[in-house]
Amino acid sequence: MRPRLLITVMVAACLGAGALLAQDAPRLRGPEPFTQEQAAPPMQRAVTNDVRVRRNYPDQPPLIPHAVEGYALDLNANKCMSCHARRFTEQSQAPMISVTHYQDREGNTLGGLAPRRYACMACHVPQTEARPLVENRFIDMDVLTEPERHPGGRSNR
Ligand code: HEC
Ligand code: HEC
Repeated sequence: MRPRLLITVMVAACLGAGALLAQDAPRLRGPEPFTQEQAAPPMQRAVTNDVRVRRNYPDQPPLIPHAVEGYALDLNANKCMSCHARRFTEQSQAPMISVTHYQDREGNTLGGLAPRRYACMACHVPQTEARPLVENRFIDMDVLTEPERHPGGRSNR
């Protein structure tokens, strides 16, 4: 990198960091001084109302609308699959994992759950009632493409 370009990039990075601090960004460093012990913040209550949450875009892993505390997920047991596997959905009334969960990364459909989909909560997460740390400026595709149909800024489809 040429020296002048390098300096410009460094200055831009410093300005960016400064702007973040000025916005009162969430602190990642912990208490000051760091040797001081502090009580852990209270656990947030999970949203467990069983209402399936609308997806923000078609490929979004849907959010988990029910309690998951204590559900075992290890080498021998996957509690999630005891309801979401195809053969258990009649008794559990849970939505079946979709076909992508049966495919390996080459797109071959396997006879069972693909290993890369075993750890459900790597992609699916529950929600809490916690206040967001930063403002969410996500705009739904429906609002972007047809703002006149969604004056409130939220889509209702
Ligand atoms: C006791 C049965 C049961 C177990 C165990 C279970 N689920 Fe569910 N799940 C359901 C049911 C029923 C629904 C439908 C909504 C509701 O009733 O909460 C659901 C809904 C969901 C949804 C929302 C699907 C959508 O399209 O909106 C996701 C994601 C999900 N579960 C993931 C998980 C994960 C991950 C685990 C393991 C940590 C898990 N579930 C364990 C029964 C279960
Ligand atoms: C690598 C990320 C990933 C993992 C791991 C994963 N999922 Fe998903 N899941 C998705 C995505 C993305 C979607 C939405 C698009 C799709 O169906 O592929 C989805 C969709 C779903 C749905 C809704 C299906 C439908 O047809 O509406 C359920 C239920 C679900 N997953 C449950 C699970 C369970 C249970 C596990 C663990 C056994 C799991 N998922 C593991 C990414 C993942």
